[in-house]
Amino acid sequence: MTFGLCCAWIFIFLLPGLSDGGKLLVAPMVGSHWLSMQQLVEKLAERGHEVVVVMPEVSWQMGTTEAYTVKIYPVTKTLEELDNAFQGYVATHLKDLPFPLNTLAIYNVSVNVFHTFFTQCKDLLSSEETLQYLNQSSFDAILTDPVFMCGPILAKYLSLPFVFFMRGFPCNLHYEAPQCPSPLSYTPRLFTFNSDRMTFFQRVENVLVSLLERVYCNGFYEDAIKLSSEILKTDVSLVDLMNSASIWLLRFDFVFEYVRPVMPNMVFIGGINCAERKPLSKAYAESTKLNKK
Ligand SMILES: *[C@@H]1O[C@H](CO)[C@@H](O)[C@H](O)[C@H]1NC(C)=O
Ligand SMILES: *[C@@H]1O[C@H](CO)[C@@H](O)[C@H](O)[C@H]1NC(C)=O
Repeated sequence: MTFGLCCAWIFIFLLPGLSDGGKLLVAPMVGSHWLSMQQLVEKLAERGHEVVVVMPEVSWQMGTTEAYTVKIYPVTKTLEELDNAFQGYVATHLKDLPFPLNTLAIYNVSVNVFHTFFTQCKDLLSSEETLQYLNQSSFDAILTDPVFMCGPILAKYLSLPFVFFMRGFPCNLHYEAPQCPSPLSYTPRLFTFNSDRMTFFQRVENVLVSLLERVYCNGFYEDAIKLSSEILKTDVSLVDLMNSASIWLLRFDFVFEYVRPVMPNMVFIGGINCAERKPLSKAYAESTKLNKK
């Protein structure tokens, strides 16, 4: 299917009124990522789409509900192992190490967290029963939070068009994969702490950091690249996995970004995180009052 056709087709299926509802597979990411995606999934189910969410047997914050179908798959890591990996991640951020030890330690622990959570994706793709069920369900599309790359691998495996619902990838991949212009003279890279007005030397620094990005992202996604090549039985790069997304729903706002054009299938949906509003807790309200005094 050509890209244009695929895109138009997805729009038709997501528009209420134009169809009787589609069949959507949701491959979420655990933890806080799920909390904002859940709002969207509930709304889609409410509008008459048939929604199936695949969930690991062990997860944070992913309760089941009546609103949509949940397909649970067996996993190998326990909740304690997930908790420990994440606690190590948080603890490293709180350590007061000098540069570059802080950056190295954060990189090391991030790779560790990636590898720990990615085992859930390996579990999903080695569960014959789950894969058979998913293949037989004839979905129209996959909605996925792709940060760990599990959704895109699953979508390619099942040959389904996919929609991203995401905050961002490390190393600018979400601009690189769809080939958005991202001129190094004006768009500062993560960790440089530069603004869009850079001196000559800051621009040089920006170029050097952008060269490193490829290297450090390969560390994060090493397991994903290996697994996708195994599952899809062909060599696959990170960009191959991402660049055929039909729509990118970006969970942030244009005004928080640096000036750069985005592709027509990229949509800023910032603010969805705030859909579930609650009054501040009493303790927090008190403490901010005290701070103002
Ligand atoms: C990197 O992480 C591993 C475990 O995830 C740990 O054993 C190792 O000591 C860490 N290395 C550095 C340099 O922090
Ligand atoms: C899905 O099922 C069809 C037959 O129903 C089969 O031809 C196809 O190979 C299966 N795909 C996968 C990825 O298992």
